[in-house]
Amino acid sequence: MPVPNQPALGDHLIRYTSESFPEIIVRAKGSWVWDKNGKAILDFTSGQMCSTLGHNHPAIVEAIKKSADNAIHLFSGMIPDTVAELAEDMAEILPAPLSKSMFVNTGGEANEAALKIAKFATGGYETVALGGSWHGTGAGAAAVSYASDRRGYGPTMPGSYVIPEPNAYRCPVEHCRDACDGTCLRVGMNMFDMASRGEGAAIIAEPILSAGGVIVPPDDYFKTLKAEAEKRGMLLVFDEAQTAFGRIGHKFATERFDVVPDVMTVSKTLGGGVPLAAVITSDAIEESVHGKGFTFYTSHVSDPLPAAVGLAVMTTIEDGNLIERARTLGAELRGRLEDLQQKYEAIGDVRGEGLLIGVELVKDRESREPDHELGAITTERCFELGLSMNIRRRPERGAVWRIAPPLTASEDEIERGVDILDRALGESLDSRAGGRT
Ligand SMILES: Cc1ncc(COP(=O)(O)O)c(C=O)c1O
Repeated sequence: MPVPNQPALGDHLIRYTSESFPEIIVRAKGSWVWDKNGKAILDFTSGQMCSTLGHNHPAIVEAIKKSADNAIHLFSGMIPDTVAELAEDMAEILPAPLSKSMFVNTGGEANEAALKIAKFATGGYETVALGGSWHGTGAGAAAVSYASDRRGYGPTMPGSYVIPEPNAYRCPVEHCRDACDGTCLRVGMNMFDMASRGEGAAIIAEPILSAGGVIVPPDDYFKTLKAEAEKRGMLLVFDEAQTAFGRIGHKFATERFDVVPDVMTVSKTLGGGVPLAAVITSDAIEESVHGKGFTFYTSHVSDPLPAAVGLAVMTTIEDGNLIERARTLGAELRGRLEDLQQKYEAIGDVRGEGLLIGVELVKDRESREPDHELGAITTERCFELGLSMNIRRRPERGAVWRIAPPLTASEDEIERGVDILDRALGESLDSRAGGRT
């Protein structure tokens, strides 16, 4: 939602983004948020992709209240009951051999830990990541993030390499169209080999590249990537910040792609809106790095309150059959968006899995030139009409709405959101045709 003067930020907040809503938000519940004027806004971004259960789900509220009576925070060397239980529950549902977890707060932090584990375990330091990836803002995670924000902050971590992402709609190698044949991966790894000092540590990837434009790699992509990592003695790290715990209609993307990484991180969707993240690995890797003296000692590692929330989130997903819900509601939403694609030439592609859907805007379907202006004005119009949408706008990667309502959204809310989008897009195209933008 581009608002150049960012009025809601006022005079005393550092402007940490170039895009923010014009009004202060005072309340959130279910699929909705309300601004200070009482305007209701339908949330098609699940907050920052975290509120898969909807805002302020009663189970999360209950877990927070219970923690307020029991323990909010402890000495980092103390293991609370909620953390012990959460680690056990995660081990039960994660694919073998992923069985050991450490709980921190943010996705970026979990990725810092994952990279440190990979470096410690392999003795190497080089990393390979995918173009368009986003793994966080700390030095390690930012070094392996290629979606944006690389310029102007000085040197990044030595040994950071990027390979072209498998974007079939907008092939970065300018080779395929509509079906990725894996050239990006083969050429990318060859280029890495040319540059490598032979000290590879990790290949890190989002199973579905979200910030990069909701890119779903081909079914066999990660099997090949894992084999490439193994050949070089590197670990495969899956960053499941957005794909874990149901959003894509699977418990984890490991299930969707039938690949088990060496290290996995989860974050946004585990905390359901509360800062909670985890790095998970096998007994063997944990044993190896522990033996070498691995530490990741933060003030809020193993905090009891977020862990209690994580337990509540996992139970609610299971009891509410929300993974299945992501599939059925996702199919409905996708169907409606594909109808819009029939109606509007400007919608070049609709893609995604479950309730993580990308809608790409183009000036025409043949050239696929991104229509950034249309994305900006339509997103703004959606907001005026009461719908919060996230547009990913990268010059070379297209204008893509990332549509991700809560898994608990009702059919009516989905219908309503798509109706608003339909109206906003129609009005934006009309106003542009009339020369009014
Ligand atoms: C795939 C992925 N990994 C990591 C992160 C960073 O998580 P956090 O913002 O919680 O540090 C994000 C955030 O958008 C993300 O989308």
